[in-house]
Amino acid sequence: MIEDKRWKGVYSFDDSPYLMEVLTELRDKETDSIAFRKGLVKLGRFMGYEIIKTMETEKVKVETPLEETEGIIVKDRRNVVIVTVLRAAVPLMEGLVKVFEHARIGIVSASRGKAPKFEIEMNYIKIPQITPEDTVIIADPMIATGSTLLRVIEEVKKYGTPKRIIVLGVLAAPEGITRIKEKFPEVEIFVTKIDRELNDKGYILPGLGDAGDRAFGAP
Ligand code: URA
Repeated sequence: MIEDKRWKGVYSFDDSPYLMEVLTELRDKETDSIAFRKGLVKLGRFMGYEIIKTMETEKVKVETPLEETEGIIVKDRRNVVIVTVLRAAVPLMEGLVKVFEHARIGIVSASRGKAPKFEIEMNYIKIPQITPEDTVIIADPMIATGSTLLRVIEEVKKYGTPKRIIVLGVLAAPEGITRIKEKFPEVEIFVTKIDRELNDKGYILPGLGDAGDRAFGAP
């Protein structure tokens, strides 16, 4: 996990050969929907483990069948709300819940309109009440213009003030990260890799194409 020098609290995983290999498979245009979904599940799971490394732990005593010893619990792991941005984040969420099995789940549908405005349409919003102990993980694979996430973060904040808000993505464009950090500097961003730029249609380059279409085989 590497903190990017351009922003505070923005991490990528260029130092993880495993995550880079999974990403390579996702980028490959020959990868079919089944393998693409599996790849997203893997990234959700393994990036979830990376997030755990940043969470508070507490020492506890544990009785083995033979004697008492010391162990730990990751306290914050029990207070997680995962907000899934339909539709491409569904497989990412599947990976995340393997790590955060206690998580309460929010679902929002937010989609980008057409160029040049890319206005955000939010048709479905179900988010659980959020407490000050909670870590909210907003799962959205592609952080492109950042417009969707700006709307989703605004919405999340209506349900309470969490300890942390984390955006978990697969690829991000620098433009999108900058917009999110300008409006919400406290939001942390964990992304497999930060790509070069956006094209004029709002796609990330080199990217992986449309994550929802590729995961579900339906444009
Ligand atoms: N959403 C996608 O699925 N892909 C992109 O490149 C940008 C936004």
